[in-house]
This record gives sequence, structure tokens and C-alpha cells, in this order.
Amino acid sequence: MQKNITITYDAFDRLEDLLPEDRKLLEAATQAAKDAYAPYSKFHVGAAVLTENGDIVVGNNQENLAYPSGLCAERVAGFSASALHPNQKIMAIAITAFTDEFLTDKPTPPCGACRQSLIEYEIRDNQPIRCILRGSTGQIYVFHSMADLLPLQGNFLA
Ligand code: THU
Repeated sequence: MQKNITITYDAFDRLEDLLPEDRKLLEAATQAAKDAYAPYSKFHVGAAVLTENGDIVVGNNQENLAYPSGLCAERVAGFSASALHPNQKIMAIAITAFTDEFLTDKPTPPCGACRQSLIEYEIRDNQPIRCILRGSTGQIYVFHSMADLLPLQGNFLA
């Protein structure tokens, strides 16, 4: 027997085409990327988490001279949201990145460790987390669940 996993996501050409709350979240992530501490990679990532009460918690990558001690933007935002609002479900996360070294014109997907960290909240809260991805320009991808980015881990597979 063969089984199939199909992942469906939305692609938008323009910010204006997004739902207003997704656009606001992506704008918050874009702002947060400017505050990234990324002196080593010079790759500035911003993330913004939306909680069920409408709070937005931002994060950005924090690097360190001892390389593994740094942390990705997505985990800074996700962990902060859970720390600051422990009883609120996480509804969505927007992620973006820029660097002066090259054009980030493709969506910036979270790394494997961030996917694992974020799906934890999806399972905890029994609430799919929307994931809005963009480079500094180009198409915007909207995934409807972290489980779509980490198949077989989440609760939401049919
Ligand atoms: N980074 C993130 O913050 N999120 C990602 O999804 C990919 C990578 C950071 C880690 C490091 O500070 C820099 O980008 C280069 O890898």
C-alpha cells in the first residue's frame, strides 16, 4: 500500500492580497528583522507570532561568538509568546529575512528545529498555526498548519 501526503498552501504576489491580520503580522516580522543581531551571518530574520487575543510577539535571530549558542528568529518569537502569554493559543507566525549580500526573493522557511519547536504549540493547543513566509520581496506563501511543514508530527493529518 502506498500513502500520499499532499500539502496545500496559498501563494500571493502582493502584500495587499493577504488577509489584513496576515499582512499586519508580516509587517511586524519585517520590522523585527531590522533589529536582528546577526553580525556573523549578516542574515537578518524576523518573525512575528499572533496569539488568540490578538497580541503580536516578535522575535529575530540572535547570534553569538560561540556559534551554536545563537537562536533563530522563529524560536525567539515562539518561546517569547509562550513565556509571555502562557494561556493563549498561538494562531499564526510570519517569517521574513533580508541580507545585504544577496536578494532574498524567495520565502524563508523555518529550519527543522524551529518547525519542531513550533509544532509543539500546535499540538499543545490543538490549534493549527498559520505560517506566512516571505523573502524581502517576491511571493508570499501561507501554510495552514505547522504540520504541513513537518508532516507526521502534527495532529492535523487526515
Ligand atoms: N535563521 C533564522 O533565524 N531562521 C531561519 O529559518 C533560518 C536561519 C538564522 C540563524 C542564523 O542566525 C542566520 O539565520 C544564518 O543561518
